[in-house]
Amino acid sequence: MTDIRDDVVAGFESAYGRGPVGIWSAPGRVNLIGEHTDYNEGFVLPFAINRRTVVALGPRDDTLVRVASEYADELAEIALDQLAPERLRDWSAYPLGVAWALGQFGADLAAVPGVDIYIESTVPVGAGLSSSAAIESAVAVALNDVWQLGLDPQTLARVGQLAENKAVGAPTGIMDQSAALLGRRDHAVFLDCRSLESELVDLGFARAGLEVLIIDTGVAHDHATGGYAERRASCEAGARTLGVESLRDVGIDDLARAREVLDDVTFRRVRHVVTENQRVLDTVRVLRSQGPTAIGELLDASHVSMRDDFEISVPELDLAVETAQANGAIGARMTGGGFGGAAIALVPSEGVSRIQVAIDGAFAEHGFGQPTTFTVTAADGAGRD
Ligand code: GLA
Repeated sequence: MTDIRDDVVAGFESAYGRGPVGIWSAPGRVNLIGEHTDYNEGFVLPFAINRRTVVALGPRDDTLVRVASEYADELAEIALDQLAPERLRDWSAYPLGVAWALGQFGADLAAVPGVDIYIESTVPVGAGLSSSAAIESAVAVALNDVWQLGLDPQTLARVGQLAENKAVGAPTGIMDQSAALLGRRDHAVFLDCRSLESELVDLGFARAGLEVLIIDTGVAHDHATGGYAERRASCEAGARTLGVESLRDVGIDDLARAREVLDDVTFRRVRHVVTENQRVLDTVRVLRSQGPTAIGELLDASHVSMRDDFEISVPELDLAVETAQANGAIGARMTGGGFGGAAIALVPSEGVSRIQVAIDGAFAEHGFGQPTTFTVTAADGAGRD
């Protein structure tokens, strides 16, 4: 972290010709289990990871908000009273969208000073590790401090989600920002997406000699277009036909009736969400009673459900999962929204390099692009550095 903090200060100085008042950061996330359940008011179990987005910030004498980053050639700027989702474009929609969204959550944007922001990150972009929620959450905690808004982390997660939904235009749920804001070292965030109540669950991976291996397939995905929104619409249609507010209200016992009244595709979308909610509850119970070596089957079953019922996997993700399973992983599944991105495998420490080699080999054999594999640990959520 020392390097990136130095870099972000240097980047701020070269962009703005002065120093920042502080540095804030937020992590990417891995979802251990509970996929496409968040916007169905269900359960999720993500954890924050040891890859972070770092933000340097300094207040201004006027009302401009300016953002620059290592990723963009040009600085983006807008006056606070001009902030509106439809005016925000490209990567700067993430940080500027958060400034706008804070206004929607009560910040008086006419009373706060403008700011200069500089952003750097070690969260890989497009890998399904929520690099976007990391930017939103880092900017949210920074502005919350500098503007002295006093919003709590769960509210800041909703601010980030609003920015993502309206300014970026991706109809995503509350999971990613919650993980980035509420995460704790060695713990997962068990979140009820209906009540927004959360509990930290001890993962115990290190004690059990386990590592979490990320297999980034390199297959790009974009939740602002296409499949993600379609899946969400199917779930909402299923809930309407079943006469419930959301699929959270459908239990395993209701699936027999659901099969009678829904068309086949909608039924399978519903079955994924309903069984996935149960798998999250089971995973929390098993982690607490037996420890992490016992959750493998639940991870594997989650992948099968996403592959066959929700149909959001791609051949590269299936190959990554199958290869990890065949080479000693305790369990494996795709993670995140799907249609590309990354898989996770829970692996005994001594077996990590064997799986990495096997995955490289399998991808080459299938003529797929080279994947990137690396381990992550559960880290602390967003805050001032
Ligand atoms: C993306 C979204 C989340 C969640 C997952 C699927 O990461 O941002 O809100 O819906 O997909 O579980």
